[in-house]
Order: sequence, then structure tokens, then C-alpha cells
Amino acid sequence: MTTQVIDGKQIAKDVRKKLKPRIAALREKGIVPGLAVVLVGEDPASQTYVNSKGKACERLKLYSETIRKDANITQEELIEIIKSLNANDKIHGILVQSPVPSHIDELAVTLTIAPEKDVDGFHPYNVGMMLLGRGALLPCTPNGILKLLEESQIDPTGKEVVIVGRSNIVGKPVAALLMQKAKIGNATVTVAHSRSINLAEITKRADILIAAIGMPEFIKADMLKDDVVIIDVGVNRVDDSSSEKGYKLVGDVDYEGCFEKASYITPVPGGVGPMTISMLMENTVTAAEKISSVM
Ligand code: GUN
Repeated sequence: MTTQVIDGKQIAKDVRKKLKPRIAALREKGIVPGLAVVLVGEDPASQTYVNSKGKACERLKLYSETIRKDANITQEELIEIIKSLNANDKIHGILVQSPVPSHIDELAVTLTIAPEKDVDGFHPYNVGMMLLGRGALLPCTPNGILKLLEESQIDPTGKEVVIVGRSNIVGKPVAALLMQKAKIGNATVTVAHSRSINLAEITKRADILIAAIGMPEFIKADMLKDDVVIIDVGVNRVDDSSSEKGYKLVGDVDYEGCFEKASYITPVPGGVGPMTISMLMENTVTAAEKISSVM
């Protein structure tokens, strides 16, 4: 069987294209969807993500604000910023780039974001609604994974999905979504993680493997069965003297080694990453539609 590379860049582009008529309809009503991104500190990877989010807004002609704050900002100051964004009519989506410095309680900050502006889908209200199958603002990376499967005509119904990683951002929510009675759902889901015993035996059961552990090239070919669908969520910087930047990006999967075993595989970069940003744009438009319909 030949391996199909899932083109996240193209699918992400298609998602953005489908947003255009929705953005135009809002514009007719005098509404421009607005996204505020708050970045605390100087983490280089976070800076790259935040820049991409701003650029994506620009391309779709959405309003965007990036609020950059020093790493020594207090929790109270950060919470005041969120409160003013909650009250700002130009802003429909608020995102605080994670991670925040350790003196800040991330949950306290998330709890301050108005749930209807929580375009990350991280507020406990939105997490709860997602678990109930009633979520409107779904977390971007898990929702992007569902979209990649849908657009590649991969139906998870009845399949063994193994997720490696149990983070609040990816592992837990994608497990919840894929087990749901829904169009892209109905899977038999296993969540494995760093404490799982006999990890390779678990991953070998996977019809669909989702790697989200944050360890470069951790998943090897001998951990997989033939014709597995591989979704690689990892974005790891590894030293590379041959590159101008001095590093290259690799996923959580040994791409070259696993390629032959896979029926479908997402590359890094160009797989899940671009989807996250497009789903964020979609959530911002959805938030603007919902907020404007009740005004
Ligand atoms: N850091 C890494 N991924 C994300 C994300 O999806 N949202 C936020 N807010 N921070 C992140």
C-alpha cells in the first residue's frame, strides 16, 4: 500500500477559504471578528506561534491585537488585562499563549476569560460542554485533527485509536472528541502516556495513532502495525548545524522510519500545526457570530 501524506497546509487553507463568506456576512452587519492574543515572556516558540496567529488574522482581514508583556507581570495585572478584553466590543476571541511563567496560575487566568470569547476552548465551561458533546468552541488542535481525518476521508468509527500523551490541550480533549457519538467519532480510544507499561504493545493495536507527547521521534516503526494512520502533533526543535537557524523541527514520530508502515501520515511541519491556526480563526468567527447574534 502506498503511503498518503496528509497535507495539513492545504486542508488548513481550505478551512480559511470556507470562512470568507461568513466573515463577509458579518462585515455586512458592521462586525469585524477580533482576536486578542496575550503573550507573557520571551519564549521563542511562543513568539513564533503568536506571530503566525497575527498573520493569519491579517490574511483574513480580521481585527487582531497582540499584547506582549514582560515575564515579571503579576497575576493580578494579567487578570486586569483579560477583564478589559472581556469588556472590549472589538474583541470576540481571547487567547493567552501557553506556557505562562510559573508564578502565574494559568487556571485562574483561564477562568477570567469570558467563556463566549474563549477561542482556545480551555475554560472549564467549554471543556464541560465539549465532554457533553455540546461544545461550540472546541480546542483548536484536537478540532484540527478531526478535520484532517474528515478531509482525508478517514472514518474513525469502530477503529482502535491510540493517543500517546494526556495533556489538557491535546491528549485528553482529542480522546473525548473521538469517542463521541458524532460524525467524526465512535472510536475505541486508548490514552497511553509516559507511565504506561508496555507502551509498544498498546501502540501496536492502533488503527489510528495520535502522537502528542513532546518527545522528538519517539514513535518508531516497530511500535506500529501495518497500514496505521499516523497523526503527529509533536513540534520539537532539535539541533541541526546544516540549517541556518541552527535547529530543525521534528515530530514525535520517526517520520522516515515509520513512513512505509503508514497508510496515511502527517508531516512536521505542515501537518497538524497549520490546522491549529485555521481552527483558531474558525473559533474567532464563530465567537463573533454568536456574540453579535445576542447583542
Ligand atoms: N501553546 C501551545 N499550543 C497552544 C494553544 O493551542 N493555545 C494556547 N493558548 N497556547 C498554546
